Amino acid sequence: MKTDAVTTAPGPKAPVLSVRGLSVRFRMRGGRQVAAVADAHFDLAAGECLALVGESGCGKSVLASALLGLLPGNARTSGSALLDDGTDLLTAGERSLARTVRGRRVGLVPQSPAAHLTPVRTVRAQLEETLRELTGARRPALRPAAERAAARASFPAGHLDRYPHELSGGLAQRAATALALIGDAPLLLADEPTTGLDRELVERTVDELRRHTDGGRALLIITHDLAAAERIADRVAVMYAGRIVELDDAERFFGRPGPRHPYARGLLDALPERAFVPIPGMPPELGALPEGCAFAARCDRADELCSVQPPFDGRLACRHGARADGEEPDRA
Ligand SMILES: Nc1ncnc2c1ncn2[C@@H]1O[C@H](COP(=O)(O)OP(=O)(O)OP(=O)(O)O)[C@@H](O)[C@H]1O
Ligand code: SF4
Ligand SMILES: [Mg+2]
Repeated sequence: MKTDAVTTAPGPKAPVLSVRGLSVRFRMRGGRQVAAVADAHFDLAAGECLALVGESGCGKSVLASALLGLLPGNARTSGSALLDDGTDLLTAGERSLARTVRGRRVGLVPQSPAAHLTPVRTVRAQLEETLRELTGARRPALRPAAERAAARASFPAGHLDRYPHELSGGLAQRAATALALIGDAPLLLADEPTTGLDRELVERTVDELRRHTDGGRALLIITHDLAAAERIADRVAVMYAGRIVELDDAERFFGRPGPRHPYARGLLDALPERAFVPIPGMPPELGALPEGCAFAARCDRADELCSVQPPFDGRLACRHGARADGEEPDRA
């Protein structure tokens, strides 16, 4: 549903990215449609990290692909995703996305760095190639520029002549991050940057990314890992069945008063270090969403009001969201 008058939770500065009513539908054979992202609204400011969390298949990566103009041909988008220079990432043509946006305005820290790096070229060769492409640097400036680019992502100079398969998971992630940073893009998208890393490496990777955010970039990090989100994010957006259902300051969300949306509360309660109680049931198929709130079948607060889709007011989409402190929004 469109909510043009939405007020998103304020970020610290003017937004680098402003997403309004972003929806993505996939057209399938036989006329079936999959509503992978529905009516997403959020802003992201320079120096700010927003973590997008939610169960597998809820639409997080589709949202990121929409922002990069990398959706497959059967996808249809609506809404807008404006950069601060006025570029709408949803309507910009492939030529302009390739020439002026990807790498230059929006940097991608990929989900699978090993797969993102070219297997038959050394890290140095890949950094030099990206430097040539994005900055126009030429020999002899390329070699020191590649070393500076590596150092920015804490990639050790002594490993620059290695091939991707010779790197540990953590170093491959740093190499991919170094590539993502080369164009000085003000907006970074990191889709599951810590998948497959052990806890220590997860923490190191998110701390590195935080350092780049503190240096003035805006970062949208997509993750299953709530501990990583808590460590890095200023704000948290929770996605369920293609919709953002809660968006709040990370401190309030993870601390007190805690989440308001029953699904978001369930996500935190499922953590081993918290109640360790899983959310019952499974999310609905995005190609066969129920009428009304998609979480109703799993929600212990569901009633007849929930049979109408709850609007997202910039913070919450729930007819009965309540905080532990008893604050109850008027949504009936
Ligand atoms: N090309 C496509 N055609 C049809 N459906 C698609 C296509 N790409 C993705 N989807 C569907 O969109 C939904 C959202 O997928 P997405 O990859 O965004 O999930 P996710 O939240 O990133 O999950 P994960 O946490 O596992 O990475 C899924 O149901 C997926 O099957
Ligand atoms: S709208 Fe209703 S069913 Fe949906 S999360 Fe809120 S209380 Fe539960
Ligand atoms: Mg994903």
